[in-house]
Amino acid sequence: MREQLREVLAPFKGERGAVIPILQKAQDELGYLPEEAIKEIARFLRTSESELYGIATFYAQFRFTSPGEHALKVCLGTACHVRGGARILDTVERELEVEPGETTSDYKFSLERVACFGCCALAPVIVVDKTVYSKMTPSKVTQVLDSYR
Ligand code: FES
Repeated sequence: MREQLREVLAPFKGERGAVIPILQKAQDELGYLPEEAIKEIARFLRTSESELYGIATFYAQFRFTSPGEHALKVCLGTACHVRGGARILDTVERELEVEPGETTSDYKFSLERVACFGCCALAPVIVVDKTVYSKMTPSKVTQVLDSYR
């Protein structure tokens, strides 16, 4: 990981303001932002780890745990929200015992909340990897999750 981080940071030498691009590049490279990466980036930017966490946690795009085998995204855009998106998210959280931004303890699923997938007519929607599941209900959520377990 050290070597990967060195390659990520090299083009940003002398650019102490490039916090977000550095975090994005590190996440692209590593799949997430582990503690060690935050430590290394903080050192590079001559800032504290807590300040870096403060910035990174503000943006939903950054994750601090290793991604799971399947990326599960729940839409909470307006159309999905109106049609029960929050209930769908509750069901997923309860079934998998994770919150958005986290990975299940068996590393099977990573959960994310999304603003809109652009298929609002199918609301409420969840997406597992690249497969869209439409008009979700709590019981359909359970069936979908079971099909991946
Ligand atoms: S609001 Fe969910 S797909 Fe558009």
